[in-house]
Formats: sequence, C-alpha cells, structure tokens
Amino acid sequence: MLTANELKLAAARKALEFVPDDAVIGIGTGSTVNLFIDELAAIKGRIKGAVSSSEASTARLKAHHIPVYDLNTIDEMPIYVDGADEVNHYLHMIKGGGGALTREKIVAAAAQEFICIADESKYVDVLGKFPLPIEVIPMARSFVARELVKLGGHPEMRHDFVTDNGNIILDVHDLAIAKPVELEERINQLPGVVTCGLFARRRADVLVLARQGGVEVLR
Ligand code: 5RP
Repeated sequence: MLTANELKLAAARKALEFVPDDAVIGIGTGSTVNLFIDELAAIKGRIKGAVSSSEASTARLKAHHIPVYDLNTIDEMPIYVDGADEVNHYLHMIKGGGGALTREKIVAAAAQEFICIADESKYVDVLGKFPLPIEVIPMARSFVARELVKLGGHPEMRHDFVTDNGNIILDVHDLAIAKPVELEERINQLPGVVTCGLFARRRADVLVLARQGGVEVLR
C-alpha cells in the first residue's frame, strides 16, 4: 500500500514526460508540485526555466537553481503543471488549498496545456466536499460572505493567512457544485472577489492520476 506522499511522487515523476525541451514551463503550488519541482531539478538542463505561481514555489525553484521568469516576459508557455484539491471526471478542479489560486489561474491561463498531477484521493464525482477557497479584497469580506450564504454556502475566513497579493481567503463549505462553470462565473462576478478556486472555465487538459494500481493519464 503506497502512502499519499508516494502516490504524489509517482504522479510528479510521470508528469516529467510532458515537459518539452527548451521551454519555459508554468509551475503551480503545493506539496505535489513541490515533489515535481524536486524531480524537475534532475532534468533542469533540458528546459529554459519556469514561471511560478507563488512565492513558495519561486523559492523552491531558485533553491534548485532553476531560472524563474516574470510572466510578463514570456509569450509562449507550452505547459502548466499543478496539483488540485479536488478534480472531477470532466477535469474541472477545486484549487486554492494553499491559497495561491489567483496566480495559479493567471499562469494556467497563459499556458497551452494544463497538466494536473494528483493522487487518487483528489478524484471525485462531484466537486464541493473540499471547501471552495475564494480570494477576496479585505474591505469586501462581509459583503462577499453574505452573497455566498445566498448561494447556499457557509463561508469561513482563513485565519492568520494573507495571500501573496495581500488579500484574504474565504473557504466556503457545503456548496453542492453541480454546475462548476456556471458557479465559477457567478462567484467571480461578485464585486470584491479576486477569483474563486473553481478551475472549470479553464479545466485541466491532462490528469496524471496516481492510484494504488499505477499511474493513469486521463484527458
Ligand atoms: C494551492 C493549490 C494546490 O494545488 C492544491 O491545494 C493541492 O495541494 P497539494 O498538492 O498540497 O495537495 O491549489 O493553492
């Protein structure tokens, strides 16, 4: 029986097969991505470098002497590699458990292909058991929370946490997410919301899913 960490490592290793030569690639955030960065270090001579989605990933990339580029200087990025808190069969995701959702969404949007790396515990029929993270501008906290209650959720402020952009996170419990694209659009339209952790409009293109029986590649 493989541990969760061993499964994450298996997904991270498999994802190396998607890394093209001489490219700048997008890098997500989280414990699965940390393992991917460590694996990437072994083949770093094959790539030009990375665009990072968080201060934490930037620090880890730099510790491995992998060049980190400002997104504004890059006009082509073939892949973005990131984990997820939940991913469904349509490859819609909930992300933001680490609080890096906004930069993750930006870097993902700039990439041609989103490669999601995950262990089987993340693969679900319906999104929403994991509380949906939403990055909110601090002055809008109460207003946005009230609007989220109207949508049927129970928002909880993430304590002692400030995003890399200086904002807060509301984690929304008890949302039954039957229509991820519609809900993502609806929440993102609320004034004060920077972005929500639903990645459905721009879903993953490839899911590298580590299971006890082996690693599967789903599209
Ligand atoms: C961070 C994220 C992560 O991708 C997500 O939380 C999964 O993290 P982990 O690989 O540690 O389970 O969205 O904002």
